[in-house]
Amino acid sequence: SEPRVAIVGATGAVGQEFLELLDERDFPLKELKLLASARSAGKTMKFQGQDLVVEELKEDSFGDVDIALFSAGGGISKKFGPLASDAGAVVVDNSSAFRMTEGVPLVIPEINAEAMRGVSWRERTGGIIANPNCSTIIALMAVTPLHREAGVRRMVVSTYQAASGAGQAAMDELVLQTKEALEGKEVTKDIFPFQYAFNLFSHNSPMQDNGYNEEELKMVKETKKIWSYDDVSITATCIRVPVIRAHAESINLEFDRPLSEERARELLSGSPGVTISDDRAANSFPTPLDASYKDDVLVGRIRRDISREDQNGLDLFVCGDQIRKGAALNAVQIAELLLDQ
Ligand code: A2P
Repeated sequence: SEPRVAIVGATGAVGQEFLELLDERDFPLKELKLLASARSAGKTMKFQGQDLVVEELKEDSFGDVDIALFSAGGGISKKFGPLASDAGAVVVDNSSAFRMTEGVPLVIPEINAEAMRGVSWRERTGGIIANPNCSTIIALMAVTPLHREAGVRRMVVSTYQAASGAGQAAMDELVLQTKEALEGKEVTKDIFPFQYAFNLFSHNSPMQDNGYNEEELKMVKETKKIWSYDDVSITATCIRVPVIRAHAESINLEFDRPLSEERARELLSGSPGVTISDDRAANSFPTPLDASYKDDVLVGRIRRDISREDQNGLDLFVCGDQIRKGAALNAVQIAELLLDQ
C-alpha cells in the first residue's frame, strides 16, 4: 500500500517545493495533508490539478499520517516532531532541531543512505530522520567522492548563500529592496537588519562565543556525522549574497593522499547528483542561476591548489539549488528511500 503523507509548513518556500517534487517524481501517495499555521488554515494549494485545503497544525494532526515532511522551523519541529513520531509517523525533518541528536540519522541519500536502515513507515513505530543543513548538503555532494578516494584532512569553505535559506519572506524582501534601491527609495528592512540588495553580509544565524556563527558550525559538525568520520578539520565562513535560491561555495581541500585534477574529474563525473561545469576556455563555471531549479549540484573550478608542493590539495567551486537539493529534494529522496524499506 501507499503512505499517507503530510507536509508541515506547506505554504513556505520549502513546503511549496515539496508539493512540486511529489508531483514531478510521481511519489506514490494514498493521501496528502497540508499543514501550516492558523494564518493559512482554509487556503487552498494546487496539487496534481486538485485544490487541497491547508489545515492548521495541531497536536493531533498526525494520527492518520505515515510520513511527515517538516519544514516550518526548528521550534515547530522540536514541539511537533516527537508528537508525530509518537503517533506512528516517520518524520523527515528539514530543521536543525534533531540533526545532532544521537540515534537520529542525518542523511544525504547519495552519501549515507545506510544510516537510515531499519526505519520503516509500514510498522507505524515512528522515527525521526534529519535533513542536513543546505550548505552542508551542497558541499558534501561534491566533496564526498573525493574524500572516499583520498581522505579529506582539512576543508576550508566560504559560502555565498541565497535568500531562500531564510524563507519565502526573505526572498520577497530581496526583490522588493532591489526595486526600492533602483528607485532611490529607502529600502524595507523587515527580515534582515541590513540592506540586502546590492550588498552582502555575514550569515544571520546566531553568533557564538568563538566568533563563528551557527551556520558555520553546522557545516563542521554535520559533515563529521554524515561521514561517520572525525579525522577532518573544517573551517567555514558563511555569507549571504543577494541571490534568490541557489547557494555557491568555494572549497579548499587538503587530502591524506595525492589526488590529481584528472582523477577528481573522473570521480565527480561518475557521481550521482553531481554535474561538472568546468569550461576554462569559455570561462564558464557554476553559477547560482544555472543551478536554480536543477536537482544536481554543479561543480567547477576544479584545480590543484598551487600553494601546496605536493598533489594533496584541490580547490573547487560548487553551486546548488538551496530549495531543491539543499532542502526539499533531499527530504523527498529520503522519503523515497523509506518506500523501499
Ligand atoms: P504560514 O504560511 O501559515 O505562516 P518559510 O520557511 O518560507 O518562511 O515558511 C515557513 C513555513 O512554516 C510556512 O508554511 C509557515 O506557515 C509555517 N509555520 C510558521 N509558523 C508556524 C506555526 N506556528 N504553526 C504551523 N506552521 C507554521
